[in-house]
Amino acid sequence: MKTPIDLRSDTITQPTPAMRQAMAEAPVGDDVFGEDPTIRRLERETAEALGKPAALFMPSGTMTNQVALRTHTEPGDEVVLDADSHIYFYEAGAPAALCGVMCRLLPGRRGIFTAGELRAALRPVDVHCPRTKLVCVENTHNRGGGSIWPIEQIAEVAEAARHAGLKLHMDGARLWNASVATGIPESRYASYFDSVSVCFSKGLGAPVGSALAGSEEFIARARRFRKMFGGGMRQGGIIASGALHGLRNHRARLADDHANARALAQALAAMPGVELDLADVETNIVIFRVRSMPADALVAKLKDAGVLVLAMGAERVRAVTSLMVDAADIDEAIAILKHQMTSTK
Ligand SMILES: Cc1ncc(COP(=O)(O)O)c(C=O)c1O
Repeated sequence: MKTPIDLRSDTITQPTPAMRQAMAEAPVGDDVFGEDPTIRRLERETAEALGKPAALFMPSGTMTNQVALRTHTEPGDEVVLDADSHIYFYEAGAPAALCGVMCRLLPGRRGIFTAGELRAALRPVDVHCPRTKLVCVENTHNRGGGSIWPIEQIAEVAEAARHAGLKLHMDGARLWNASVATGIPESRYASYFDSVSVCFSKGLGAPVGSALAGSEEFIARARRFRKMFGGGMRQGGIIASGALHGLRNHRARLADDHANARALAQALAAMPGVELDLADVETNIVIFRVRSMPADALVAKLKDAGVLVLAMGAERVRAVTSLMVDAADIDEAIAILKHQMTSTK
C-alpha cells in the first residue's frame, strides 16, 4: 500500500539521512556532569539564536515549559495565559501536578490576548489572593492555527506585565516558523521575555529535543528542576546532534511548509462544505470547519483514501505541513480532499 500523506502534525517528521549521519557521529559525554560536547554546542547555538545568555537542553517541549513555570514560581503562585495555550490544554495538568501553580485563563483570539485583558486579570496584593508571578505567550499558537503574535502586541503585553512586576515566558515551540514568516529574528521576539522554550522536534525535523533559554541565573535554577523532573540525560549528545542539525539546516526551509499550507488552504477555501478564512493561515497549520459532515467522518474517509489529518472537536479539522510532504504531495492531497468532499459514499 502507498505511504499515506501525513498531515496530522509536524511532530511526525522522520530524521533525514544527513541528520541520522550527524547523530551517528556525534561526540558525547555525561551531560549530568556537564561533559557532553554536543549538548553544550547545541545549548550555545540556541542561546545565540535567541539572544539569551544561556540555554538548557531537554527531551520535550512539555518539559521545557514546565521547568520554566517551576523555575519562575513557587507552589500557590498564579500563572496568566491564554485558555487555549498548550501549557494549559495539552500538558496533562502539569502546572498543577508538577508546579503547584494556579492557571488564570485569558480569552485570546486564536491564542492572542491584549495588554488590556492582562491588566483586567491582575489581582490586588492581598492576603486572600494567590500571588500572580508569570505571564505566558505561545508563538506561534498551536490551537490558534499557527497564528503569529504581532510584535507590537507582544511589546504591549510585556510592558503591562513588567509594570505589574510579573515575569514573562514564551512557549516558542514553533518560534522558528514565526520568524521565517515575518522576517523578525527569533532574538527580537525573545527580547521581551525572561525565558523562551523552543522545539527541535517539530518543523526542524529532529526526532527528539527542546531547549529553554534565559539568564545564566535562571538557567542554573532551571537545571535543578530539570533534574528533579527526570530530564537529566547522560550521553544525550546523540539526540542533541539531530537537534543541532535541524537548527543549522532546516530553519530556512520552513518557508516551503508555509507555501504548502497556503496552497492547501487556498484549495480548501474554494471547496463546497468547507469554511476557512485564508487570513488565518499564517504558517504551517491549516484549521478548517466542515459543514457537510462531522469532522471525524471526513477524517476517516481521508484516511481510507491515503491522507491523514486530525479532527479538532465535532466540526473542525487540522492539517499541518512539514518536511515529510512536498508540493506534489499537497496537490495529491487536494485532489483526494476534493473527491471526498463531493462524493456521497
Ligand atoms: C505550542 C507547543 N508547545 C509545547 C509543545 C510540547 O512539545 P512536546 O510534544 O515536545 O512535549 C507542543 C507540542 O506540540 C506545542 O505545540
